[in-house]
Amino acid sequence: MKRLAGKTALITGAARGIGLEFARTYVAEGARVAIADINIDAARKAAAGIGAAVVAVRMDVTDQASIDSAVAETEVALGGIDILINNAALFSAAPIAEITRADYDRIFAVNVAGTLFTLQAVAKGMIARGKGGKIINMASQAGRRGESLVAVYCASKAAVISLTQSAGLNLIAHGINVNAIAPGVVDGEHWDGVDAFFAKYEGKAPGQKKREVGAAVPFGRMGTAADLTGMAIFLATSEANYIVAQTYNVDGGNWMS
Ligand SMILES: NC(=O)c1ccc[n+]([C@@H]2O[C@H](COP(=O)([O-])OP(=O)(O)OC[C@H]3O[C@@H](n4cnc5c(N)ncnc54)[C@H](O)[C@@H]3O)[C@@H](O)[C@H]2O)c1
Repeated sequence: MKRLAGKTALITGAARGIGLEFARTYVAEGARVAIADINIDAARKAAAGIGAAVVAVRMDVTDQASIDSAVAETEVALGGIDILINNAALFSAAPIAEITRADYDRIFAVNVAGTLFTLQAVAKGMIARGKGGKIINMASQAGRRGESLVAVYCASKAAVISLTQSAGLNLIAHGINVNAIAPGVVDGEHWDGVDAFFAKYEGKAPGQKKREVGAAVPFGRMGTAADLTGMAIFLATSEANYIVAQTYNVDGGNWMS
């Protein structure tokens, strides 16, 4: 029996990376999936690569009209949304003295406001349909502890953990479980960008930071998107009905609370 048979899922930022892997595995588990991304060309290509049961939806999580239309488009194409994964996010890094207000606004608009208002839009539909639902926010180990060069991103992910708690407590009255996943270091295009930041600010050779963080993981390597799919499926099933407002570390042992 497929674990997500008959379910409709909206995954933000799913044109590549972790979100795309979630989309593939959700479809393999029987779900219909909307790959929602600001990069619609990449989203269409990703959807075509998966085939049936998937639609590509243009969505900018910083824009309320875009959130509302992406949710509506998904529900027309695939039916009421049962599962939301708030996955879209941006990364940035800089020493405190070099942080700009523009960068802070850009990161918080996607990672925090984007998470909250997408969650709100989807939750409204879930409440109206009265069948509950599952909402999974992508946090990070960066939200558990500040990092010297990563203040804005770390603060944004701490905010995601806090929003998960408040939304989880508020929405469980409607049978909507809100939980989060906190990955550690996951190889992919996102981390190519992170590596480039550290090359700039710590004078490291390209690829060096990746090797260092991978070697420091107790498991012995960086994570892959596939390492996260088990938790993303589990939290979307009825087996997780009694789990409320939690953030789960899936990080090879990096973090322990
Ligand atoms: N990769 C890691 O090591 C790691 C670690 C911890 C947490 N995470 C979190 O996991 C999630 C996925 O990470 P990833 O590595 O796959 O990231 P990624 O950068 O590879 O993918 C992010 C996706 O979000 C999309 N996006 C950006 N801005 C958007 C917007 N305004 N509206 C809609 N879509 C937008 C991008 O087009 C892209 O497809 C993120 O929330 C990230 O913070 C990643």
